[in-house]
Formats: sequence, structure tokens, C-alpha cells
Amino acid sequence: MKAHLPIALLTALALTACADNSPGGRAVQARHKQFKEIGKAFKDINGQLKERAPDLGAIRTDAARIAGLALHIKEWFPAGSGPQDGKRTDARALVWTQPVVFQQDATRLAVAAAQMTVAAGQGNIAGINASAKAMGMACKGCHNKFKED
Ligand code: HEC
Repeated sequence: MKAHLPIALLTALALTACADNSPGGRAVQARHKQFKEIGKAFKDINGQLKERAPDLGAIRTDAARIAGLALHIKEWFPAGSGPQDGKRTDARALVWTQPVVFQQDATRLAVAAAQMTVAAGQGNIAGINASAKAMGMACKGCHNKFKED
């Protein structure tokens, strides 16, 4: 057990060094969690769309979840949580200097997700596929502008 102590100690030190408990640092951690939720829901949708008989109820739930989260994306980027504030984040400073464009990109995702929710409710597979494409373009469009690779 003794041999493991230095490793445990180093890990604890590393964690202490990484943890940023300032409001901005906590905002970065919180939004990473939210984006992971969005990413998981989107992945689940695309997985369903590859099935011969997609689970429309599951797609509808995931789409509604993304639509709900997308409405709040902008709130996840408060002042003090950007790279310009020394935070460890993949967000570009542009998020804060071009807030209107950023909001438009978030809205684009919310709209596509809402359209998918409707299409899933109607059992409209073509509509679901079209909105999946629009959602993918919304993610990519925003990431290209506002996120580091
Ligand atoms: C309005 C802009 C915007 C939209 C739309 C958007 N993202 Fe992002 N996303 C970002 C930004 C900015 C970051 C970087 C956040 C950070 O590092 O602080 C990010 C980060 C992420 C991450 C990484 C999270 C982590 O733990 O590092 C994932 C996964 C992700 N987005 C998935 C998606 C998916 C999937 C979609 C579409 C369904 C999407 N995003 C739509 C702006 C957006």
C-alpha cells in the first residue's frame, strides 16, 4: 500500500491544480457537462436513425431534450468564463465579442431540434432525417466559429 501513496498524493495535487472553483471556472465545468448531454442525445438519435425500425419515442425525447438545452446555451457562457479570462476552455473569445451571432447559432439548433420533436411525433421519418441534418449543421456551424478544434 505504501508504494501507492506517492501516486495518490500526486493525483490529489494534480486535481487541486486543475480545479478552478471561481464562478467562471465552475461555469466552464457546468457547460462541458451540458454539451456532453447534448452530444449524447444527438448520438442516440443518429443511432436510432440507423435502425430498421427507429424508436420514435426515444428520438422525440432526445430531440426535446436538445431543444430545451439549446435555448440556454448562451447562459452557459457568463462573463469571466472565457479564454480571455485565463480559463481552460475550448470556447473562443468570439463567443463574448459576437454574442448575437452566437445566439443565432444556438437558436438554429433549438429550432432544428424542435422540428425533429414534431416530426417524431408525426412518425415522419423523412422529416426526422432532414432535421437531423439541420442539427448536425447547427453544431458544426457554431463549433467552426466559436470552438477550438
Ligand atoms: C451556439 C454554439 C454551439 C452549438 C449550436 C453547439 N455547440 Fe457544442 N460547443 C460549443 C462551444 C463554444 C464549446 C466549447 C465549450 C468549452 O470548452 O467551454 C462546445 C463544446 C462541445 C462539446 C465538448 C464538451 C466537453 O466536455 O469538452 C461537445 C461534445 C459538443 N459541444 C457537442 C455539440 C453537439 C453534438 C451539438 C449539436 C447537436 C453542439 N455541440 C452544438 C458551442 C456550440
